[in-house]
Amino acid sequence: MPPEPERSCNICPRLVAYRGENQADHPDWWNGPAPSFGDQGARLLIVGLAPGRTGANRTGRPFTGDYAGKLLFETLLKKGFAKGQYDARPDDGLELVDCMITNAVRCAPPGNKPEATEESACRPFLTARINALPNLQVIVTLGDVARRNLLKALSLKASSGVSGHGAEFQAGPYLVINSYHCSRLNTNTGRLTPDMFEAIFHRVRDAIDAR
Ligand code: URA
Repeated sequence: MPPEPERSCNICPRLVAYRGENQADHPDWWNGPAPSFGDQGARLLIVGLAPGRTGANRTGRPFTGDYAGKLLFETLLKKGFAKGQYDARPDDGLELVDCMITNAVRCAPPGNKPEATEESACRPFLTARINALPNLQVIVTLGDVARRNLLKALSLKASSGVSGHGAEFQAGPYLVINSYHCSRLNTNTGRLTPDMFEAIFHRVRDAIDAR
């Protein structure tokens, strides 16, 4: 299994139909699986949920153009896991440093909610993505869908990984650190503050430095 689905991947009928609707309305959008973005030599992998319709589904780069991307990329820039400038466009020149971002589900789902069958169908790509990163040490999951899918992608039981913001556990060779998703809902309600989010990447830096 390759780490990235083909642009024309048609495994999930509902997501392909949704892509077709978006394609008809917005032929200038990306409208396909959003490829993982970042450094092939990364020691850090961030796993998100799925492309937002007007975010990665439009721009073709994870979290790019999404509300969630602003906090994510600003935090990565602050913590040295990115360089350049984030300008919500795939050609903004932003580069990830020692870091890659992927999604548990690569195509935009209606209402941002993938179905369980879609998560399962896309999971082999997550496994392959992980296996294709030779230097990987730390995985940050953004939200519980990412955490659950990561455990399954690593063939681990759901009970082998605790949940909760800042909770961490060892999953085979990888240290997994959970974060609340940096979604508009979580940030607007104060469930996730910029400081809480930054603390996750502070911990990542310490963990990488300690290895
Ligand atoms: N955009 C993504 O690419 N992934 C998410 O989880 C949210 C927004």
